[in-house]
Amino acid sequence: MSNIAFNGTDANNFISLADFAMMETKVKAAAQLLDGRNGPGNEFLGWLDLPTDYDKNEFERIEAAAKAIQAHSEVLIVIGIGGSYLGAKAAIEFCCNSFYNNLPKSKRNTPEIYFAGTNISGTYTQQLLDLIGDRDFSINVISKSGTTTEPAIAFRIFKKKLIEKYGAEGAKSRIFATTDPVKGALKTLADKQSFETFVVPDNVGGRFSVLTAVGLLPIACAGIDIRALMQGAADARARFAQEAYAQNDVLQYVAYRNLLLEKRFNIELLVNYEPRCHYIAEWWKQLYGESEGKNHKGIFPAAVDFTCDLHSMGQYIQEGRRNLFETVLEIESPEHDITMETEEEDLDGLNYLAGKTMDYINKKAAEGTAMAHKDGGVPNLKIKIPQATPYYLGQLFFFFEKACAISGYVLGVNPFDQPGVEAYKKNMFALLGKK
Ligand code: PA5
Repeated sequence: MSNIAFNGTDANNFISLADFAMMETKVKAAAQLLDGRNGPGNEFLGWLDLPTDYDKNEFERIEAAAKAIQAHSEVLIVIGIGGSYLGAKAAIEFCCNSFYNNLPKSKRNTPEIYFAGTNISGTYTQQLLDLIGDRDFSINVISKSGTTTEPAIAFRIFKKKLIEKYGAEGAKSRIFATTDPVKGALKTLADKQSFETFVVPDNVGGRFSVLTAVGLLPIACAGIDIRALMQGAADARARFAQEAYAQNDVLQYVAYRNLLLEKRFNIELLVNYEPRCHYIAEWWKQLYGESEGKNHKGIFPAAVDFTCDLHSMGQYIQEGRRNLFETVLEIESPEHDITMETEEEDLDGLNYLAGKTMDYINKKAAEGTAMAHKDGGVPNLKIKIPQATPYYLGQLFFFFEKACAISGYVLGVNPFDQPGVEAYKKNMFALLGKK
C-alpha cells in the first residue's frame, strides 16, 4: 500500500540553507511539545490517539445506526456547523460520486444527504424542507457544546417536521444526536426525549473531531468504508510517529510553511485540480484558520479550485501582491478517465489532444501552472494522494491535523482554543435580546 506524500522542492529557491537548519530545530522542539503532551491546550489531544484508541462499542453502534438510516430513510439531514459538519461533508464529497444526491436509486442504495444548520437562512431551510417533501427522512444533529445557535435553530425546525410526519414516538428512532457525553442543551434534550446519542469526547475539539461519531456517522450513512478511513489514519499516525525529520512528511510540511511565513508569505492557498477535493479545502481552512489565527499571528488559509479558478483568480496569483504560496493536492490515479478522440474536421482545433486522456491534460495544466506561479514568485508545495479512497483520506486527515498542531506550536500559539469565535455571538445575542 502506498502513502500520501509531501514534496517541497518547488519552494526551495525561496529559502536559504541556513533558514532550513534554523527551522529544523524549531519544528523538532514543537513536535516534542506535542508528543510529550506538555504544550498549551494539551487537554485537547484526544485526536492524536483516535485512529487506534477509540470506543469500539460506539463504533459498532455507528455502523448499526448508519444501516438503520439507510434502510428507512430516503433523505438524511445532517445538522451541524464548523467542526461539526466540515469533516463529514469533505469525506462524502471526496469519496462519493460528484453527483451523489442526484444519482438514481439503482446506483445509490444510501440516502440523499443534505446539511443544515450551517447558516441562518430561512430561504435555504425552507427549500430543504420542500426538497424532503413527503419522503422518509432522519436527522443526525451534531453539536459538541450542544448550545450553538445555527444548528439549534435548524434542529428545532426539522424536528418539528419529523414529529408531524411520524409522531413524537416515531420521530425518536429517526433522530441521532452527537454531542457532549454529559452537558449542554442538546444532551439534555436527547436524554429527555430518548434519542440515540453518540459522544464527542471531551478531549477532542470540534475541528479535530472528524474521526469521532461527529464525522463517522454521516460518512457511514453515505456508504463509505469507515474502517478503511480509520485504518488510513492509524497507518499515518504510526508512520509520522517513527520517521526521522528529513523523511517525515508532517514535519517537512510544517517546516516549509513556517519558513515561507518568515519570508512574508502569509497566505497559503490550498489548490486542487479535482472538484471532489473542494470540501477538503473547506475543512482544512477551518482547521488551520481556527488553530493558528490568534495573538495577531498565523498563515491565512485560503483555497482555489483549478483549473476553474485560474480563470478568475489566476491573474492575482500570477502577478498580484507577492505574499502567497500554494499547497497543491494531486490525486495520482483518477477514479475515471476519458480519452480524447480525433474528429474528422478539426473545427475546435483539439485534434492535437487526440489519444491523450483528460487526466493527462489536467496534470499538464497543473505542471504548467506550478511552473508559471513559481516563476511569478509563488512558492509551490505539493501533496500527492495515490487515489481518492477512504484509506488515503484517513491518512490525509491525520497528516493535516498533526501538522496543524505542530505548526501552531512553532508559531507560539495554543492550536486548540478558539477564543475569538465568541465575539460575534456576544453581539448577536445582545442584539437579539437573549437573556
Ligand atoms: O472547532 C470548533 O470548536 C468550532 O468550529 C465548532 O466546531 C463549531 O463552532 C460548532 O460547535 P459545536 O459543535 O459546539 O456546535
